[in-house]
Amino acid sequence: MQTMAERIVIPGGALDPHVHFRQPGATHKEDFTTGTRAALVGGYTAVFDMPNNPIPTMTPAALDEKRRLAHGNIYIDVGFNYGGTLESSQTFQLVIDRVRALKVYMNPTTGNLLVESDKELETIFSMWPKKHPIMVHAEGPTFERAINMARKTGQRLHLCHMSLASEMQMIIDAKEEGLPVTAEVSAHNLFLTEDDAKHMPHGMGMVKHPLATEKDRQALWDNIDAIDIIASDHAPHTKEEKDKFEEGKGPYGVTGLETTLPLMLTAVNAGWLSMEKLVDMISTKPREIFRLKSDSQTYTEVILGDRPHVIDAKDLETRAKQTPFDGYMVTGRVANVDLRGVRILREGEIVGLPQGRVL
Ligand code: NCD
Ligand code: ZN
Ligand code: ZN
Ligand code: ZN
Repeated sequence: MQTMAERIVIPGGALDPHVHFRQPGATHKEDFTTGTRAALVGGYTAVFDMPNNPIPTMTPAALDEKRRLAHGNIYIDVGFNYGGTLESSQTFQLVIDRVRALKVYMNPTTGNLLVESDKELETIFSMWPKKHPIMVHAEGPTFERAINMARKTGQRLHLCHMSLASEMQMIIDAKEEGLPVTAEVSAHNLFLTEDDAKHMPHGMGMVKHPLATEKDRQALWDNIDAIDIIASDHAPHTKEEKDKFEEGKGPYGVTGLETTLPLMLTAVNAGWLSMEKLVDMISTKPREIFRLKSDSQTYTEVILGDRPHVIDAKDLETRAKQTPFDGYMVTGRVANVDLRGVRILREGEIVGLPQGRVL
């Protein structure tokens, strides 16, 4: 294996369209400041915040409150995804220019934005203006129902955090059919299995989509060319909350903003994917799907083939201070980030002020 360190520029910096910053309503887990600090250290120049807060982002008022709270407190750019329900579909036209995507939850997860019937789903899909894509949380059999709805309504569909070999096959088939579908994978589903989850304390491996079998994990790598983007699905919960899994049921979700790029660079070092594919998955493709322009003064510089170092949960910027990759060895690192010509991360240290923009 090569050990020569090499610096590589990711034009535009990394873009993550799937993070949960928890403000307002659960800032003991994360807020816009801690969340964007974690994102910056992780090499991101823009992220999109998901709508599943205690008061969900499914009204113009809730959206504007988030935009107000973020303003002046973010280290990188932050956009917002709108929650799709029958009720919120009445307001789609009012918010379309202030959001980046619609998010529809088709299975239970953190929050209560669940949409279960195909009838409601069809109304929501039909009402959504075609300017931005529809992102869905859809697991297993539900995955196929989402694809069917994209076929029926002609909407651009983005399938979040896929993890199963069967889902991989459905994506391949849908793309062959020419449907406008894109697929997202998270690092934890590329690196970990249900067996790893069993050996982790604090329900640390409990996440939706669940960590799956080794066969599923391998299917993702075998078909990585059919996966469009990598998103962190950064979903912070405190240790105390995750501990509740020891008595049965705690909140699903793991942090990911600070570990995704180092892990993926390690995968490049190991020859599991090319650096070109990684740049595509973390910057070029998400910018294309979510129609976010960048400029030549904004970029992330990473180090490939770095000397091995160990991920340590207590060094993380995220308020949740935990990761399923605690103690994991990586050989890639985020060095520098420039945002619109201003250096905001220097050799891994935050040097900028909270000058990110609300997108
Ligand atoms: C997410 C969260 O905690 O907000 N949890 C998760 O397990 N991924 C919600 C989600 O993306 O499903
Ligand atoms: Zn989800
Ligand atoms: Zn414990
Ligand atoms: Zn999520």
